[in-house]
Amino acid sequence: LADPTFSADVIVWQKQHGRHALPWQNTRDAYRIWLSEIMLQQTQVSAVLGYYARFLERFPTLAGLASAPSEDVMALWSGLGYYTRARNLHACAKRVMIDYDGVFPGDPALLAQLPGIGRSTAAAIAAFSSGTRAAILDGNVKRVFARTFGVDQFPGLKPVEDALWRRADALLPVEGIESYTQGLMDLGATLCTRSSPDCGRCPLRQRCVAYATGRTAELPVRKPK
Ligand code: ADE
Repeated sequence: LADPTFSADVIVWQKQHGRHALPWQNTRDAYRIWLSEIMLQQTQVSAVLGYYARFLERFPTLAGLASAPSEDVMALWSGLGYYTRARNLHACAKRVMIDYDGVFPGDPALLAQLPGIGRSTAAAIAAFSSGTRAAILDGNVKRVFARTFGVDQFPGLKPVEDALWRRADALLPVEGIESYTQGLMDLGATLCTRSSPDCGRCPLRQRCVAYATGRTAELPVRKPK
């Protein structure tokens, strides 16, 4: 499963064509990175930008967020959707204050035990805040992998998802985890989109099974009914 040219291609592309000036980039502040990753779950960057700025203006620190009334947190989330995220966000802030003295753990396995932080979000936070090598596998990355490797089963099936995680682990670069992680996210969000992938600009085109076989519209396989 390992292939160092995969991460190398993603990293070169990210540096040339990826996103570099988003408000949660160019920082190692785990609080700001965590907040961005929770807001970006199932939500596009364009929808998050205003909420992220207003949230940080009202809650510049984790301690302030943890001690705030839940009504204030919910009011700032209002309109962003998936409100369980906001309740978990507040619970997570309190837990980090109490269990970790206000400092997010660096270990993705510990991050993944906190409210609202799954395995992929934990890996993204660890990669961006401390350069920890850990694999992400969110919906966008599943699509990139399903197409690149020609995965012809629904990626929501447990054994299929397990196999994708093994691939994700095996493909991690030895160096440059931040650019690699951001690059996979950017590829999924900007080129390898669900309905109109821009294969002509994709750094993975020459190895992409879906591109080679004309199946980008069929992959990833949709949820069986
Ligand atoms: N989606 C999830 N995490 C993201 C990030 N850090 N940058 C852009 N889009 C994302």
